[in-house]
Amino acid sequence: MSKIIEMVPGIFWVGATDWHRRVFDRFFSLPYGTSYNAYLVRGDQKTALIDTVSREFQDLLLEKLARVMDPADIDYLVMNHAEPDHGGAIPKVLAAAPGARLVTTKRGVEMAATFYGVPAERCQIVAQGDTIDLGGRSLRFLDTPWLHWPETMSTFCPEDGVLFPCDFLGAHLASDRLFAEEVGGLSIPEAKRYYASIMMPFAGKALQALDKFAELDIRMLAPSHGPVHRDALSLMKAQRKWAGGPLERKAVLLYATMYGSTETLKQTIAGALSERGVEVVEHNLAVADLSHIVSDLVDASALVVGSPTFIGGAHPLVHTAIETVRILRPPGKLAALFGSSGWSGGASAHLKARLESVGYQVLDPVEVKGPPRPDDLEAARALGNQVADRILAG
Ligand code: FEO
Repeated sequence: MSKIIEMVPGIFWVGATDWHRRVFDRFFSLPYGTSYNAYLVRGDQKTALIDTVSREFQDLLLEKLARVMDPADIDYLVMNHAEPDHGGAIPKVLAAAPGARLVTTKRGVEMAATFYGVPAERCQIVAQGDTIDLGGRSLRFLDTPWLHWPETMSTFCPEDGVLFPCDFLGAHLASDRLFAEEVGGLSIPEAKRYYASIMMPFAGKALQALDKFAELDIRMLAPSHGPVHRDALSLMKAQRKWAGGPLERKAVLLYATMYGSTETLKQTIAGALSERGVEVVEHNLAVADLSHIVSDLVDASALVVGSPTFIGGAHPLVHTAIETVRILRPPGKLAALFGSSGWSGGASAHLKARLESVGYQVLDPVEVKGPPRPDDLEAARALGNQVADRILAG
């Protein structure tokens, strides 16, 4: 959106709304587009810009800044995170504000040089608890590394209770409205999908950051993507559960099928789980979206995977999904495998090795030849019941 929003007197949203972007990192689908939130914080004496926007929106950012003040008078450019969707306009802002210092972590200085050619002498390194006085309001910096790059930090304005955690607690959601309560019911589910797709491998770091945030009087949570939350506690509570549990009595069931045999086994296993009261979420990998799969895995107790044997191993769609799971490290570590083969088999052995290597406990697979016979379906039902027993036992 082209408008500027004054969130509290003296703190302005000057970001960009990317309505039409449909994929992030060439992996993460963006059905609702996204936004790159940048915030201008004005004190009585000094002004800071917190993060910038993706490079294609840099002219819009400069034009918005000029509507509030002369960009040449910006004193600080706070870089909470160096990734180009937030740092893309850094060279242009620093050129427009020749006296501005880039405020970031020690690691951020190296990245600012690598990505944007910012010389070290233009940078001001900050660490946990450091403060910059803007006159009447201040910025306090929190060390929140690995959310999701090593240099990430968060910035807090204590006088207004506004926290700027950059990517952390964000969501990919374009809207003409800034505040979460104005954008309907999507903000929490999309924050979860966002967390799953980029932050989940760093769940421990997320919990550490939340512990630091718990010491603050946060009245507004302003991430770098998606809505700003005036009800900061609800999102932080949800985030704590995503990162620290407890898990739900839920199984995520992924499968591919070539001639319907694996699908028949799937129906039997899903039925057994469901009858025992376990929530089943199915994804047919021929049509599934990986980011929704990993979002469902954030709080699932078990992963159940069906694959036909394909050239002696897992079907390529299943292989890709499991490699994504391995990278993103969801917390539930119970897995069950099943599938059908024409002659040799091998899909389950392939998947078992891949999952065990990242800490999954894999139950004995059910692998059948051709269409499942009654005793194969009995074995599939027993596998479903075994998964249910484990989940219900906690
Ligand atoms: Fe939104 Fe890690 O960048």
